[in-house]
Amino acid sequence: MKKLAVVGAQWGDEGKGKVVNYFSRDFEWIVRFSGGANAGHTIYVGDKKYVNHLLPSINPVIDSKGFLGAGMVIDVGQLVEELKILERDFPGISSRFYLDPEAFIVLPWHKEEDLLLEKMRKVPIGTTGRGIGPAYTDKASREGLKLFVLFDEALLRERLEAIYHMKRSKYNRDFAVSIEEMLVYLQGFRAELERLSVNFTSAVDMYRVFRSTSVLFEGAQGVLLDLDFGTYPFVTSGACMAHGVSSVGFSTFELDGVYGVLKAYTTRVGAGPFPTEESSGVGDLLRERGKEFGATTGRARRIGWLDLPALRYAKIRSGLTGLVITKGDVLNGLDEVKICVAYDVDGVVKELPSTSYDFFRAKPIYETASGWPVTDHVNFLKYMTFIERETGVEIDYISYGPKTEEMKTSNDLIMNI
Ligand code: GDP
Ligand code: IMO
Ligand code: MG
Repeated sequence: MKKLAVVGAQWGDEGKGKVVNYFSRDFEWIVRFSGGANAGHTIYVGDKKYVNHLLPSINPVIDSKGFLGAGMVIDVGQLVEELKILERDFPGISSRFYLDPEAFIVLPWHKEEDLLLEKMRKVPIGTTGRGIGPAYTDKASREGLKLFVLFDEALLRERLEAIYHMKRSKYNRDFAVSIEEMLVYLQGFRAELERLSVNFTSAVDMYRVFRSTSVLFEGAQGVLLDLDFGTYPFVTSGACMAHGVSSVGFSTFELDGVYGVLKAYTTRVGAGPFPTEESSGVGDLLRERGKEFGATTGRARRIGWLDLPALRYAKIRSGLTGLVITKGDVLNGLDEVKICVAYDVDGVVKELPSTSYDFFRAKPIYETASGWPVTDHVNFLKYMTFIERETGVEIDYISYGPKTEEMKTSNDLIMNI
């Protein structure tokens, strides 16, 4: 039974939601294994758009199920909100979602702390303000709150008191929500989740089920935002690469493939190095054409040309076995398209960054490709072939629009030309 991971090969927002939603027809389970509501994964059901922040991008009209794994940090308020949006159009859909009780909770305190820390930083990261960093910090420093505490009132109170005590001592201030209010808040959302018939089931209990069926793992963010190997410290706090499937009890050896999703150009939200950035001119044009505004925060995304050294790095770091390219249609009609083929790092030409530090010092070295009027054109095929040759990974699928069905295989493309 097929097991496939789909991860972002750049700095996030590559179109993972759309790609997962397209593949979801062939999978019984769609599993999110990391991150939280910092993600914004856009899917379409017919003409209607939905943005999933926490929920796996299952296809609501097909009977697949979604699992939220232990590597995630879950804002229960946001979760209920997302479920309610889907429930309006697809009654009963909530019972198709399963939460691992080992996953951590993002509290309003974490969101407050996130904003506070950003103000304190000399160079802010430009976080999404969704409490991700503080929630993962609490997890690592043993102050976190796992979902299972929602079912034990005494334990919940004890844990909340402990966390509040730590935060108050650390920041020497009160937080907006008191312990009592937090208790009521969490109990309310637990009741909502039960009313919506969401399942609480651990990956241990799912062990056999997952192995006897098809599973699609939906990555969040992108390799270059990964806590370990992204452009640190301008990264998120979770795992963005395929190895994150270990939090759902899987080894990457069990995967039949790891698809890296890449845009035909590059975007990034928030601060940090971005070697191929075009801060005006063509950057503005592509932002407008590609509707490049964050699905979570609405912030304007930074825009740049395709960056092959970054892609080669992503391939090696995340063990990509195939690529899916999105948004080639946004470049339609340009006379020329630039591609960064190597970096000049302090006078040394590098096709592959050795460490994430190289991204901070890189000056892009470009080649120019002929543009294409539509993606069904020989010049787009040449662009793809160039990417494949330069990265050593095949592009198996091409997305040419935001809608689920606007997707074809590279063989379809060759046949159409
Ligand atoms: P994700 O975070 O990787 O799931 O990506 P986002 O949903 O944050 O951002 C991708 C944006 O591009 C969304 O608005 C999608 O609807 C849109 N999109 C995805 N694929 C394509 C494509 O091939 N062409 C165009 N024009 N838009 C696309
Ligand atoms: P999806 O899954 C793009 C960025 C933020 C910020 C940095 C840290 O939709 O691709 P955080 O709130 O995680 O502490 O912010 O990471 N970031 C994303 N950028 N897409 C995302 O998710 C992102 N999730 C976080 O903009 O620079
Ligand atoms: Mg996104």
